[in-house]
Amino acid sequence: MATIGLIGAGHIGSQLARLAVAHGYDVVISNSRAPETLSALVAELGPRARAATAVEAAKAGDIVVVSVPLKNYRAVPVGPLAGKIVIDTNNYYPERDGHIPELDDESTTTAELLQAHLPTSKVVKAFNHIYAAELTTDGQPSGATNRRALAIAGDDQDAKATVTRLLDQFGFDTVDAGPLKEGWRIQRDTPGYGPRRTAAELRRDLAAAKRYADRSVARS
Ligand SMILES: NC(=O)c1ccc[n+]([C@@H]2O[C@H](COP(=O)([O-])OP(=O)(O)OC[C@H]3O[C@@H](n4cnc5c(N)ncnc54)[C@H](OP(=O)(O)O)[C@@H]3O)[C@@H](O)[C@H]2O)c1
Repeated sequence: MATIGLIGAGHIGSQLARLAVAHGYDVVISNSRAPETLSALVAELGPRARAATAVEAAKAGDIVVVSVPLKNYRAVPVGPLAGKIVIDTNNYYPERDGHIPELDDESTTTAELLQAHLPTSKVVKAFNHIYAAELTTDGQPSGATNRRALAIAGDDQDAKATVTRLLDQFGFDTVDAGPLKEGWRIQRDTPGYGPRRTAAELRRDLAAAKRYADRSVARS
């Protein structure tokens, strides 16, 4: 079984750590402070979990999840993530993250920013449009009727196949939104962002998503 490293162990990171441990993975969790600050979560997760620095979590993970406030993405260690699959859960909220001009003008996407920061990693956008609490309540076995689906985006097909298998283990169908540059289709304010969706519903939502600029034109 593989090890999943987590950079960020807040609402989403802690929930993904719970799912990972429940499905037999070892996890190494980290936050922006000292590993000791994660002792309660490590105790809850049990012997498959340990806390470490972000660099150690990045080194230890076969797959590494980045789940931090987007404004901090440049602090994600680059070297230890070379060649690895990196799952990006992050979203852009200017009121939290400050304004990022290339996201405001929609010339890039959140996951493309992380990919540019981690040039030799294989970034896959995932888990960004489900509320943290629902990660541990909404999963169902493969083949369940009306199983919830989650979208992914990424430029590396093998990495996406690996993440698709992980989502399936965690209880979710996957809808491939395409390359990283298509990740905007599942960003905040799009139809698929937040609500429970089956794969067919999510595909419709992705197709119906509109750029902010196009929505402004439609409104004016
Ligand atoms: N909450 C949701 O339901 C949800 C759903 C989907 C996606 N998201 C997105 O996922 C990301 C994480 O959201 P969240 O709600 O889990 O946030 P959160 O509860 O605020 O947790 C953020 C985590 O990131 C850690 N962190 C911050 N800067 C770091 C750094 N430089 N190095 C290592 N760790 C760092 C924090 O550590 P400290 O506590 O030590 O600062 C904390 O463990 C955000 O981009 C968010 O928009 C959230």
